Amino acid sequence: MEASSFIRRLPKAELHLHLEGTVTAETLVELSQRHDGAPLDLAQARALYEYTDFTGFLMAFKAVSEHLHTAEDYEMITWRMLERLARQGVVHAEVFVSVGVVYYWRRCAFEPLFEGMERARARAEAELGISTYWIFDAVRHFGVEEAAPVFRKAAELRREFPSIIGIGIGGDERRMGAEPFRELYAEARDAGLRLTAHAGETTGPDNIWGALNIGAERLGHALSAIHDRELMELLAERQVPLEICVTSNLRTGCCARVEDHPLRLYFDAGLMVTLNSDDPALFHSDLVGEYDSAQRHFDFTDEHLRELAANSVEASFLPPERKVMLLRFIESLQ
Ligand code: HPA
Ligand code: ZN
Repeated sequence: MEASSFIRRLPKAELHLHLEGTVTAETLVELSQRHDGAPLDLAQARALYEYTDFTGFLMAFKAVSEHLHTAEDYEMITWRMLERLARQGVVHAEVFVSVGVVYYWRRCAFEPLFEGMERARARAEAELGISTYWIFDAVRHFGVEEAAPVFRKAAELRREFPSIIGIGIGGDERRMGAEPFRELYAEARDAGLRLTAHAGETTGPDNIWGALNIGAERLGHALSAIHDRELMELLAERQVPLEICVTSNLRTGCCARVEDHPLRLYFDAGLMVTLNSDDPALFHSDLVGEYDSAQRHFDFTDEHLRELAANSVEASFLPPERKVMLLRFIESLQ
């Protein structure tokens, strides 16, 4: 079923999106033709996107990331991602890039790859009017020592590239919580970086408390907050933005059935909820689909969706003047 024109036209910010997770099987074939002696065909590429649980999903994410080698690769995937976002009415995106994967698996410098990303970002801003910030993501289960160079590179490059707005930790929370990253988060904050963390996606509320305790300003998923009344009250009181990714949670098996997802309960409890697509190519989804499914499965009216879009702008790390401009744009949409 086609999503409504209102949803497509609604100006939206995407706050939880992984660059590598936007690479489609078709693009993966092109990348493989660029670099591999025996390139993947489309069926082989599609097979890499098949998994049945969260661990399998992380392996699929790694398999896709392994096909990214050059600045041109990063430029191409960034441009395609931003083109697709602009077509969906996305006016601003804050995008994770797994610098941790580049360092850990490939042991190569990130700067040249980042320059490719920056070229596409600047072109998209000029030609499509979409703004983009980067969030350097470490893979938490590689450990604290592996995360340090990721965050320090963000701090260093930020001086030259203000599009680098913050840092985050993704990966497997079951193997590594948030608390061990406390000192690195404090150091990143002192360097002027904004702090995000995936929290409570595969684990219970303790890890959400942990993320808040180390200063995370925005929480990715926060699926298990529903099991902790005190935490729910705190999230409501402090209006901590939650980057909700319903399709992701269903596809990775973190949430068994759509009717079990706490999205509507969070919204009704007054939490600061935003809708996001996480890894759209790996989940065969997009942001318009997230708004559409929120409407169909959780009875959100168009006015509710307008509120969720406004939340996404408010919860972004944009400067106040651009927030105000985008909020007016959202309010005035007929
Ligand atoms: N969670 C954890 N690790 C990830 C994710 C996610 O949503 N996306 C890519 N790596
Ligand atoms: Zn994520």
